Amino acid sequence: MVASLPQAAVTLLWLAAAAAGMPDPSQRDELMRREASRRTGGGVALTAAERRLDGELRRMKEREMAAEPFPPAVHFFKAKGLIRDSPVFKLLQDMPKGGALHVHSSSLVSAEWLVKNATYRPHCYVCFTWDNSARFVFSRRRPYPRWDCFYWQLVSALRAEAGDAAAFDASLMKHLTLVTDDPDGEYPDQDAVWDKFERAFVAGAGLVSHAPVLRDYLLRGLHELHRDNVMYLELRSGLSRTYELDGSIHDKIWTLRTFQDVVGKFVAEHPDFLGARLIVAVHRALSASEVKAAVEEATELRRDFPDVVAGFDLVGREDGGRPLWYFRDALSLPAQMGVTLPYFFHAGETDEEGTETDQNVLDALLFNSSRIGHGYALARHPLAKEMSRVRQVAVEVCPISNQVLKLVSDLRNHPAAVLMAEGHPLVISSDDPSMFGTAGLSYDFYQAFVGIGGLKANVGTLKELALNSIRYSSLPPTLKDSAQAAWRRKWDAFVSAHA
Ligand SMILES: *[C@@H]1O[C@H](CO)[C@@H](O)[C@H](O)[C@H]1NC(C)=O
Ligand SMILES: *[C@@H]1O[C@H](CO)[C@@H](O)[C@H](O)[C@H]1NC(C)=O
Ligand SMILES: [Zn+2]
Repeated sequence: MVASLPQAAVTLLWLAAAAAGMPDPSQRDELMRREASRRTGGGVALTAAERRLDGELRRMKEREMAAEPFPPAVHFFKAKGLIRDSPVFKLLQDMPKGGALHVHSSSLVSAEWLVKNATYRPHCYVCFTWDNSARFVFSRRRPYPRWDCFYWQLVSALRAEAGDAAAFDASLMKHLTLVTDDPDGEYPDQDAVWDKFERAFVAGAGLVSHAPVLRDYLLRGLHELHRDNVMYLELRSGLSRTYELDGSIHDKIWTLRTFQDVVGKFVAEHPDFLGARLIVAVHRALSASEVKAAVEEATELRRDFPDVVAGFDLVGREDGGRPLWYFRDALSLPAQMGVTLPYFFHAGETDEEGTETDQNVLDALLFNSSRIGHGYALARHPLAKEMSRVRQVAVEVCPISNQVLKLVSDLRNHPAAVLMAEGHPLVISSDDPSMFGTAGLSYDFYQAFVGIGGLKANVGTLKELALNSIRYSSLPPTLKDSAQAAWRRKWDAFVSAHA
């Protein structure tokens, strides 16, 4: 329009604006206030004590942002030490964080525990494949050679032979996590890091699927969360079969009952822990008919264990994997049969646009997913974003996972920054804590609060993120109410201890 106006008219308009003077400062304050009210936690009214804590947190955060290097801008494996020393992080450790809604059972417990506890048990054998990946198995006698692995040795014998047990244990640990001093050198691209990621899962499987280990492993996992002031867990699990020393095999029901039993005992000993539920998860590499069978099985498990089984998900790398739409027949089955099977799909864990994988965010919503795992691609899908917001389908943001798996390097650039600025329903989770060398949720909360949220994120943001983890959990409404009440008591105690 302006370009078509005669020059004299433009000059006149300009003069009129200058005569009106500077924009009105109160108008500016009003705009800033209105914009701030939209962000996650922007509608939370803070108490006097919360405002004091907020002031303190902001000063701490400003100091951290001024320091070099800024932890969220650095690869987590290099930033971890800095974060551990950070006053903001220490505060977040004390903070009641609600529930962890996106964690995988095969990566629940620190690798350190697997090495120091599981591999120290008698009858533990190890074998190294041609591509130097480890396999473990517990067996009374030396296992037979397998196609991928010929020579099994007792871990205890190898450890004794090595002399330096600490160095030997550190070498075992390297097979079970992604952690390394040189992440950029070791993982030049997404393919390289996913390759190691998947090999580490296979390495750990022989340990975790040993029935006696699984029981202690789950218990340990709950302890690690509880110690980090997390009060609830929704665990994605394939419910793998487990084995005993004599070679006998337990089925999925055994694993489910073991989970139920361990959680029940833990809650009895720690009444402030609210419990844990399972999201049955199968690999997206399965065929359409295998996924169909898995959906049917999950439907039955949910019917038989309604307090334990929350729903269903597909796992494994989305990029290059089968998209949700490929499984449309299987995923439509529950609705067609008139039964309920809530979905908790991983969707949009990609930085590619316009691929089948990128389409998963819309398909997840089409299949009525209750939440979206990662949703890294969501900010680029205006319609899916709107649907997710209107339907309150929360996005499970796992900052460290996205950085380590190379979707983003500087977490200030994470797309969840946009979602957070708009007050999109979000929860923060850890995805695969043992693979990334974290435990609990505090590291991911730090990245979300300091890196993704920047100076805009305040105590209200933290409060809303924690409450969201209960609000968007799979708990039935009455349990949500009591969970929120329990969380609020902890929150008030936390605020008065720190304000
Ligand atoms: C492993 O942990 C369990 C449970 O805490 C404990 O009973 C057992 O003694 C530990 N085993 C080893 C070898 O450390
Ligand atoms: C999703 O929800 C809609 C509306 O409730 C329903 O009509 C549809 O069948 C559901 N689709 C699936 C795949 O569950
Ligand atoms: Zn995941």
